Amino acid sequence: MATQDGDTGVTGGDEARFVIVSNRGPVTFSRNESGERESSRGAGGLVTALNAVSRRGRNAVWIASAMSEEDARVAKESLEAPYEVEGFKVVLVEHEGEAYDLMYNHLANPLLWFVQHGLYDLPYAPELGDGTKRAWEEGYVPVNKNFAEAVARTLEDVGGEKLVILVHDYQLYMTPLFLRERLKGDAFISLFVHIPWPEPEGWRILPEYVRGGVLRSLLKADVVAFHTRRYARNFVRTAQEVLGLEVDEEEGVVYHKGREVWVRAYPISIDPDEFEELARSEEVREQEEVVKDLPGKLLLRVDRIDLSKNVVRGFTAYDRMLERYPEMRGEVTFLARCQPSRGDIPEYARYAEAIQEAVDEVNEKHRMSSWEPVVLSMEDDFSFSIAAYKNYDVLLVNAVRDGMNLIAKEAVVVNDKDGVLVLSENAGAHEELGEQALTVNPFDVDEQADALYKALTMTDGERGRRAKALKQTVEANTIEEWVEAQLRDIAAYRGE
Ligand code: F6P
Repeated sequence: MATQDGDTGVTGGDEARFVIVSNRGPVTFSRNESGERESSRGAGGLVTALNAVSRRGRNAVWIASAMSEEDARVAKESLEAPYEVEGFKVVLVEHEGEAYDLMYNHLANPLLWFVQHGLYDLPYAPELGDGTKRAWEEGYVPVNKNFAEAVARTLEDVGGEKLVILVHDYQLYMTPLFLRERLKGDAFISLFVHIPWPEPEGWRILPEYVRGGVLRSLLKADVVAFHTRRYARNFVRTAQEVLGLEVDEEEGVVYHKGREVWVRAYPISIDPDEFEELARSEEVREQEEVVKDLPGKLLLRVDRIDLSKNVVRGFTAYDRMLERYPEMRGEVTFLARCQPSRGDIPEYARYAEAIQEAVDEVNEKHRMSSWEPVVLSMEDDFSFSIAAYKNYDVLLVNAVRDGMNLIAKEAVVVNDKDGVLVLSENAGAHEELGEQALTVNPFDVDEQADALYKALTMTDGERGRRAKALKQTVEANTIEEWVEAQLRDIAAYRGE
């Protein structure tokens, strides 16, 4: 296959060839007013993280879904010539519109996401049936097959021996199965699950064709990876209990059809230098003026509008804190940055409304002439978020469950105010940051109210000590280490 620089799709001598496969890619395309093609960086922490893999100069190719109309045009072109972005190659995959809608809006995001984050109100939901089967058979499975075919097409000219295929996340659980069917040779395949993996019982909500299908496909990978030891352990137990397989829980191994599947935890991180540089930029410094104008101490949250983030309970907790400690009225502003997400899914659209209603309620109840208790912003403005990271006194991350939560890591690195982190014990980040944060049960609004008060009134000495330790923890396990740890295991798996 020819590329823009004229060589084969994936190049290199004896070095391993890396292929990253994820739903969202590093770049998305559009047309500007003069009709010229423009590119912008893809959304989400995963993109930042995977950029670190491609930066390794290991001949990376990144295969992702075409998201926009212009992406679809690029997808057609990339069949002939992968797009070059910052030294690596991008291949966009065009899916059939209805299949993608069924995968994204009916199977992956409502169903798998809800099961894995424990979001269902089980006496009432989910209500599964023929629609679920259709979303699986006509959406999730074909989209995954399409991905595997795109990988195979891209790699046509390349032998399998040193091939490393890194598949990412719950949108692509069936890809390892189809990859094994399509690829000759002995490619190394890993699947990184970036969201929580619940205990075996959680999986019994799903019909067998989803539950068994997902597990059997994941076990075609050589490594199945998670952000925390807890999720890795849950996966091993799920394989044991749901499929009846032999496992070694201590070592993190599932034995499947004569093969060993390694189950590992690699806590994802960030590139602290990148965030520090962004924090110094002119754009961020300008936005800081707006943040600094907010009255009193700054309580901050930054999230996608997602039910797993527990935004509404956060406002209830804040309301209780203002009730219990009336002296705090006028002394703090809660800046809530909630970025629109997955708005075509009814549960998400309703959640956006619930957030607005909760904010209105708190503001109506506690507002004073010169003080608005909550300032809600529902835009996606990264520079403004960084400006807020730099200036918070308290950061609230109270997720119901979260794979990792990179906001916590990004924010503690650039914060200039010795801010206090109030952190859910169910966020993946809690395994690393819990000791220096104020830990909360995400369901207990009274405990959160007290934690917010404690954080807002903590002595300078204690704030400083905790903030320093949080920053050091993130700096000691950067995104580079996340990549290195996986590479070490790939070599070990291959007996190198
Ligand atoms: O981390 C989970 C994840 O779904 C990623 O796969 C994704 O990039 C991000 O959250 C944002 O979600 P979406 O791609 O649905 O906007």
